[in-house]
Order: sequence, then structure tokens, then C-alpha cells
Amino acid sequence: MKGVVLAGGLGTRLLPLTKVTNKHLLPIYNKPMIYYPIGTLVTAGIREILIVTGGNNAGEFLRLLGNGRDFGLKDLHYTYQEGEGGIAEALNLAEAFSDGEPIAVILGDNIIEADISGAVRRFAEQKTGARILLKEVEDPERFGVAEIRGDLIAGIEEKPKSPKSRFAVTGIYMYDETVFDVIKTLQPSNRGELEITDVNNHYIRKGRMTFEILDGWWTDAGTFESLFRANCLIAEKENGKRTEVR
Ligand code: G1P
Repeated sequence: MKGVVLAGGLGTRLLPLTKVTNKHLLPIYNKPMIYYPIGTLVTAGIREILIVTGGNNAGEFLRLLGNGRDFGLKDLHYTYQEGEGGIAEALNLAEAFSDGEPIAVILGDNIIEADISGAVRRFAEQKTGARILLKEVEDPERFGVAEIRGDLIAGIEEKPKSPKSRFAVTGIYMYDETVFDVIKTLQPSNRGELEITDVNNHYIRKGRMTFEILDGWWTDAGTFESLFRANCLIAEKENGKRTEVR
């Protein structure tokens, strides 16, 4: 399986932190944010990885990551998203890279505690369709929210005012090679973007979506609160205890 890290966007929710740099280059405790999603894929045994960047300072990703030596990789692949067309548009740029293979996709601001090797293996066994990872959260209205019926997801609503469950759709998605055909059928949402939730709902409607609940903690880092939370969680993980500020 190949891996894709989506690290575009202008990070406007973090202004002025993102005025002169890309969100995914901001520090999370002792490393730049993008190190964590790359690490998540590498730990799951994925060796061929594409970084989709965009916005300002895209060249800094090359300076920072080079050929991925810090992750034990031989090389890294890069591509550039022009404009702000959304997560699904960014993913579409991975078509040539994926070259007919299934892909594991992670959003560049998603940071997790656990190892996703098991989920990646189960998707490899599943062979076709899609698989997503969910996590129960206190504030589901901030995310894509899954309505679960038994073993199935009935549908996903993007940032609903009245969430149908507390299960957020994390930014970790696995797709078969048909994902690029799905993206080509999408229309921009109200905010003018191609939404990853629309991709997922397409698989759900076709009965080709599976899911599992992510172990350990999960956070994104795209707002001041979640960026701060991500820093605290990683500090705690690194030090094995709550970090005290003196
Ligand atoms: C995106 C997705 C949302 C998902 C979230 C996970 O939201 O649209 O469905 O729950 O990532 O981090 P965004 O962070 O772009 O608002």
C-alpha cells in the first residue's frame, strides 16, 4: 500500500501563526507537525509516500524532509496543490503516484497516539472499497460525523449542527484505486471545496465502506485549542508524564 499525506491549505484558522509559514511546519512539542503523520504511515509499514503540499512556503517541505532520511525512507514524493480546492481535490493529485494501488491517506494535521498497522493490514485483506477510522469525541460538530447502524456507517455529515453520534471521522482514510473516479464526479460544496466527506458518502452509498474505531488518543491541530492540545499530548507521550510548566 502507498501513503499520501495531505499538507496543503492556508491554515487561516491559525492566523497569524500561518502568515509566514505553512501550518504543517509549525512545532508540535519537539518536531514539526508533518513529522507525526509521516511517522504514522511509516510505523504502519508504508514506505512509498507522497506529500501533497500547497499554499505558501511549499519549498520548505523539501528543505525539511529531503528524501525522508529521518524516517528511514529511501525517497519521498512531492506534489503541489494550487489554490484552495479542498481535501478531495488535493487527494486527486495522487492519482499518478498511486498507479492503481490502494492508498492510505492521512491529513497533515492529524496526530495520534496509537499504531495503525492493524487497520492497514485489515484494509489490505479487504482488497476493495474504503475503510475509515472513527473516534468518539466531546465536540463532534467540529468534524465529519458518522451515523452508525450496527456494523455499518449509514452516512457522514460534515460539521453538523446536531450531530447524529459522537463518532468523528478522523483524517485517516484508506481507498482502493477507484477513489480517483469518485473524486471526478464531485461538485464543490457550499464552501467551494471538493469534500472528502462526499468521497466517503459515495463509498457508503455503494455499500463499500468499512470502519474501525481508532485506539488511543487522536487530535487535529488546525485551531489554537487543538494545536495546544496536540503539543500537550505529544509532550506527555515523549516524557511519559504530564509536562509541568515552572
Ligand atoms: C476535515 C474533514 C472532516 C474530518 C477532519 C479530521 O476537516 O473535512 O470530515 O473530521 O478533517 O481532522 P477540516 O479539519 O478540514 O475542517
